[in-house]
Amino acid sequence: MASSFRVCGSHMSGRGRVLTQFQIIDRCLQRTFGTNVVAAAQSEAPKKEEIDDREGFKTFDAAQSERQEQAERSVLVSCNSTTNEQRFLKYLSRHGDVKKCFFYESYGTYAVVEFAKQESIASLQEVITIPVVNHECMLPFKSRLLSLRSGPSADLPNSQMGPQCQPQTTMPIQELIHRLSKEESIDQQIISLTESYQLTEENTRLRFLVCSLLKDIAAAYFPECTVRPFGSSVNGFGKLGCDLDMFLDLDSISGRKAKMPKAGLALEYQMKRTNSERAVTQSILSVIGECVDQFGPGCVGVQKILNARCPLVRFNHQPSGFQCDLTANNRVATKSSELLYLYGRLDPRVRHLVFAVRCWARAHGVTSSIPGAWITNFSLTVMVLFFLQRRSPDPVIPTLDHLRGLAGPADKSVIEGNDCTFVGDFSKIPPQSNTQTLEQLLHEFFDFFSTFAFGRMSINIRKGKEQNKPEVAPLHIQNPFEPSLNVSKNVNAPQLERFVALCQESSWLLQQSETSLPDARRSAPTPWGLAALLLPSQVAGLKGRKKRKREPASERIKSLLESLKKNSHQKKSSDPK
Ligand code: GTP
Ligand code: MG
Repeated sequence: MASSFRVCGSHMSGRGRVLTQFQIIDRCLQRTFGTNVVAAAQSEAPKKEEIDDREGFKTFDAAQSERQEQAERSVLVSCNSTTNEQRFLKYLSRHGDVKKCFFYESYGTYAVVEFAKQESIASLQEVITIPVVNHECMLPFKSRLLSLRSGPSADLPNSQMGPQCQPQTTMPIQELIHRLSKEESIDQQIISLTESYQLTEENTRLRFLVCSLLKDIAAAYFPECTVRPFGSSVNGFGKLGCDLDMFLDLDSISGRKAKMPKAGLALEYQMKRTNSERAVTQSILSVIGECVDQFGPGCVGVQKILNARCPLVRFNHQPSGFQCDLTANNRVATKSSELLYLYGRLDPRVRHLVFAVRCWARAHGVTSSIPGAWITNFSLTVMVLFFLQRRSPDPVIPTLDHLRGLAGPADKSVIEGNDCTFVGDFSKIPPQSNTQTLEQLLHEFFDFFSTFAFGRMSINIRKGKEQNKPEVAPLHIQNPFEPSLNVSKNVNAPQLERFVALCQESSWLLQQSETSLPDARRSAPTPWGLAALLLPSQVAGLKGRKKRKREPASERIKSLLESLKKNSHQKKSSDPK
């Protein structure tokens, strides 16, 4: 009985083995563009050009635009665990073809529904009703976050399973360690980690949909605006559960792209003036933050953090479970996301290594979701990129200067006086001839940073070379697009020392894995290789070593002491007087 369903508008309540590179790409894409989407009204197989080779990858802008457009044709519906999926889809298809639909759980069961055509949204909106409530009052804001009301006859009988839900969070670390321990090589472990942790197709769609819902709220003030995701949601290094960084793009009305009128009469808008870009950003975010707080269905815990270096509005989007950071005027960060996306697509080993290092760092508290003196995921990613540029004799990825040299006129980009130009078309970038395995690279990463002259040198991915440090901060990583800024200014000496010590211990542990027998690995379910590196008790850093005082002097401790000595000699000789 199709009429048993009714969709209600959601209002805010007043209460407010070593694989070849090709095989690696193939495996990842099968995962990412998955075949396991539930209840897709029209199944979408991965397009040939998406899996062929890197020339087939879409440019960042093309990929973003496609997803944004998809999100505009989508709605988010709160259902329940007994929703009859087929009936639900049939009900919706009265408004047009449903291109894709999947379910997930977050404080209840939700469905993301993508229509084939934009008109379907308008058609649906004509029948969506306003909720009837007895003791509460509704804030009258119509959005594309909806609730499904169904009569008893429309639900599934008790004997039948409800819709299958797509996971939106990562597996617990212990489960991951167990999974990795069963792999046959460190390379396989690293690939398996990426596959377990990376954003799924569905999660990425949900991220773009949340941006699109936010855009509807901001459009109450700025009808021409766009809300774009940036950071790990789009740079290829996002892990399920990572935050959603968004950027309110008002370029079309900012005056930035305004042209001088030709001679003759012309009208212009009268606008209030203020003395800085920062003040403009603060005003915009202040009103949008208020709007999100007062009217945004599902947006809770809204905080306006306007005095930060980069002003932002932080909130929790309950229906998706995303922790959201909304910024404005943050085009450099968007450009950084594009650069990381490009590097990640150039060679699959880049993403795998970044995932492995990020996961390792989080497991040992080198990084944290709480702001502090830790190394951030962004800084860590830049460190991995730098390391890959420094492979000798063949680098894995080119320098940023090289990518700028390959840029065409359409790639030209200058933001606040900084040259952010680099090539966007992958096919213009010649492949590198480095053929190192992931295991070799991971091991070398730990060795590289065990002995890096942090006291004297700065990490610079523009040049792909370390350079003399311009300031005294313990860790200096030049911002790729704002060369005067250090992206790791927040990191203090103890945190850096801990990172170095962990690199030394991890290098040692990996060496042990290399010398242990493969047969022993298979029969023993004990963590080995990358799995062992993720165990805090195995790789304990400086703190852990102090605790293990009573251990007999072993080869391990000897080698650790030697590497520490070596490092301190190097530091002494490299530190400026
Ligand atoms: P997650 O930890 O998974 O959220 O990684 P992320 O890359 O999204 O990092 P985060 O949310 O901290 O920052 C979002 C984006 O802002 C990054 O990807 C960078 O583009 C940019 N960003 C973060 N930190 C800095 C910084 O210190 N300097 C500059 N210039 N940009 C930064
Ligand atoms: Mg982020």
